[in-house]
Amino acid sequence: MTPTPVPPASATAAAGTADDPVRVPVALGDRSYDILIGAGLIGAAGGLIAGVLPKARVCVVTDATVAGRHLDALDASLAEAGISASAVIIPPGEGSKSFDVLEQVVDQVIGGRFERGDAVVALGGGVVGDLSGFAAGIVRRGMRFVQVPTSLLAQVDSSVGGKTGINVSHGKNLVGVFHQPDLVLADTDVLDTLSERHFRAGYAEVAKYGLIDDAPFFAWLEDNWPAVFAGGPARTHAIATSCRSKAAIVARDEKETGDRALLNLGHTFGHALEAATAYSDRLVHGEAIAIGMVLAHDFSVRMNLMGPEDAARVRRHFDAVGLPTRLDQVPGGLPDAGGLLALIAQDKKVSRGALTFILTRGIGQSFIAKDVPGEAVKSFLADELAAG
Ligand code: GLY
Repeated sequence: MTPTPVPPASATAAAGTADDPVRVPVALGDRSYDILIGAGLIGAAGGLIAGVLPKARVCVVTDATVAGRHLDALDASLAEAGISASAVIIPPGEGSKSFDVLEQVVDQVIGGRFERGDAVVALGGGVVGDLSGFAAGIVRRGMRFVQVPTSLLAQVDSSVGGKTGINVSHGKNLVGVFHQPDLVLADTDVLDTLSERHFRAGYAEVAKYGLIDDAPFFAWLEDNWPAVFAGGPARTHAIATSCRSKAAIVARDEKETGDRALLNLGHTFGHALEAATAYSDRLVHGEAIAIGMVLAHDFSVRMNLMGPEDAARVRRHFDAVGLPTRLDQVPGGLPDAGGLLALIAQDKKVSRGALTFILTRGIGQSFIAKDVPGEAVKSFLADELAAG
């Protein structure tokens, strides 16, 4: 297959640099904001934040790993812009999305005498963004908030759209608020510091946007994924396209009463796999949803919604990039089909044995299916487990 040429970094042909970042607006009325995407943006963050939030003081929330890599550069940029700043450093990992760590962050923000007009700045991946966004949403009934996402997953998904929260013993993300940021700064250079495993896992969320409703983008990724992994204009294009897709969905359904649920493609199966592996390093989120998206397509074939060709394409593409696509690739084994269905039912609303899933009629043709029979899911999973 002849690769399609790499398009310019954005429709507006911005260079994707700190001086000329790609701008993706999120249109939410008086809560609208921009996502800026470019190499070296952390070095320009001070001026960009001052432009959006003049006179705001800044409380940076980050984790110990990200602090070691990027906090000095952010601090220097804030100081250069004359912004008074302090930092709260939390332990890395999902365990920090807890009431305990939330209390510590809230305590330090209030103790630092930050006001409503001041900003919490999340420097990190999804955990830091979700936790500090929640803190920003509740301290003084809502402070200003800036996201500086440092993982691919956070740049294309969790930093955009205002979902914030923590985990509790009943499950993930069950306590939180919608609190939109005032600005998102996605510095593409920081992705070079990610492990290949974590970059690849974030890539699953990039591919998801093609699978939801943008078949040409999925086809572009099939041809150009090595360039996306290598960096440069193809990577910027993939991030910008993903952010545009998410911005469009969030703009039409901010609080997930309808279309926003499409962003959960692959997540119903994926969350069950994450729960079955105790949210451990056995399977990181992007890997779980890669398998989940393959299963969602295969299950759609089983439900006679589509032919097998597109489902095979999805599996082939994820195999090619090195993402897991089969249940037997989950290290340490899995519960049986009944056990997996119980985990799915725990995660999702169940109504008289029927489940809500994101299913599809083909690549780029996903839809919300509200009455999926639990028994059909169980027998599908039994066959998938037996097939390996
Ligand atoms: N990550 C899914 C959403 O933002 O709705």
